[in-house]
Amino acid sequence: MEKAVLDNLFRLFAAYVKTFYCGDAEIQPKVLQKEEHSFIVAGLSGDLARSLGLNDAETRLAEAIGLCHDFGRFRQATVYRTFRDADSVDHGLLGVEEMLAAGVPDLVSSSDWEALAFAVRWHNAAALPASDDPRLTLHGRIIRDTDKLDICRVLPPAPPATGCSPKLEEDFLAGRLLYYEDIRTADDRKLVMLSWLFDVNFPWTAREIAGRGYIDRLLASLPPSAAMPAIRDKIGLFLAGFASRQGPC
Ligand SMILES: [Fe+2]
Repeated sequence: MEKAVLDNLFRLFAAYVKTFYCGDAEIQPKVLQKEEHSFIVAGLSGDLARSLGLNDAETRLAEAIGLCHDFGRFRQATVYRTFRDADSVDHGLLGVEEMLAAGVPDLVSSSDWEALAFAVRWHNAAALPASDDPRLTLHGRIIRDTDKLDICRVLPPAPPATGCSPKLEEDFLAGRLLYYEDIRTADDRKLVMLSWLFDVNFPWTAREIAGRGYIDRLLASLPPSAAMPAIRDKIGLFLAGFASRQGPC
């Protein structure tokens, strides 16, 4: 992707998001939150792409995907007043529809549009679908990592410690994927975020998640339970394994 194209995309995105600005005290903070998240994820995606040794054009494409990955969030917040896909709409799919309506394909090359649409469509899926095109897979993996990294920045507010559901603790220790749909207590959400550590695609991301103190903060905010020592050990072992691996990926 050429620099001028990425610049145009930033301009289109900013103008598109502004159309959702409103006086509704529930919706406006959601719009601003996702706008900020999109800009931050664009920067993180560029950082990760550079750390992987991608060239300037592919690094700019990664930034573009980071910027656009939540294109569907603004319509979702406005129409459904929630970010819960299960209660509203798949915001990855909606994101592709919104990009089409906003004219994004007219700005970018057809091969970049293919990567952009694939990455946005699947960034929020439980797993990235297999693709014969390694470029699609690479960019799909980059956005899934950087999105998780920035979501960890905004920790859930500290409610009274309710503890985690035993089933979720059991799934965590067994290495099973944890889903938002399984959340039953306020602390369950923290356990779901901790489980993302095992789902990252690149050691760069695991190092960033740990290095920014997100793991320590999440663990420190969880009350003691019978399973908690084993949960700490599992995370410690995982991070030690990553620390011993060389290189950016
Ligand atoms: Fe998203």
